[in-house]
Amino acid sequence: MTNNNIYFVANWKMYGNLSSINQINKLIKLSKSKIYKNTKIVYCPPYTLIDRLITKTNKSPISIGAQDCHFETTNFAFTGKISAQQIKKLGAKYVIIGHSENRSLGETDKIINKKLKSALKEKLIPIFCVGEKLKDKKINKTSSIIKKQIRNGLKGIKNFNNIIVAYEPVWAIGTGLIPKNYQIEKVVKLIKDNVNKKTNKILYGGSVNNKNILELKKIKSLNGFLIGGASHTVNKFVDIIKKTIN
Ligand code: PGA
Repeated sequence: MTNNNIYFVANWKMYGNLSSINQINKLIKLSKSKIYKNTKIVYCPPYTLIDRLITKTNKSPISIGAQDCHFETTNFAFTGKISAQQIKKLGAKYVIIGHSENRSLGETDKIINKKLKSALKEKLIPIFCVGEKLKDKKINKTSSIIKKQIRNGLKGIKNFNNIIVAYEPVWAIGTGLIPKNYQIEKVVKLIKDNVNKKTNKILYGGSVNNKNILELKKIKSLNGFLIGGASHTVNKFVDIIKKTIN
């Protein structure tokens, strides 16, 4: 694990309601302690909780993000959608874009590209997800799929410095399966070679938990983790952070 800022991004997905908010008290306390000064904790709750979590965490180093945004930046007639501008105006700093659960509902690289542009225009930090499906992995297509997702997703974007890339193999999400460290390292290198060698932050996501973190944290080229299931329970999330840092 890098010595720079280490990211722990909690993706709550479609979980959580008002009663979930107080569970982050423990994280607020932890985030203020000196040992965790290089730790970047980002909560991405459902839209319905963004405002409450921003208020709750505003005196702590914890940041808040959204799980998606629409590709139109400003007001537009899109029932049920939320723009990057609306997210920014609430005070959130990050937005997850291109998550495989959205790709599987028909989100194309072209739409992802527009969403990334929209997020950057609003000065949100996109967490851009890429990852291969099991069927691609089986026929050794991981590298070509990732390259294509990066090439199309970042088309026309000149400044990549503020984009965080999350490598999330689709077959690892919510399954308990994870790649071997050398496989993750290979993809991290591929991402760096295709985005920006120096400045980009790269996270791993997919079944990260408080057990496999001890192995995953050995990957020096990673800047942190995108955590779904294990971030819904505060004790597990805290445990992951503590085991990575200590
Ligand atoms: P998981 O989800 O940790 O539950 O596998 C990760 C993600 O989908 O971002």
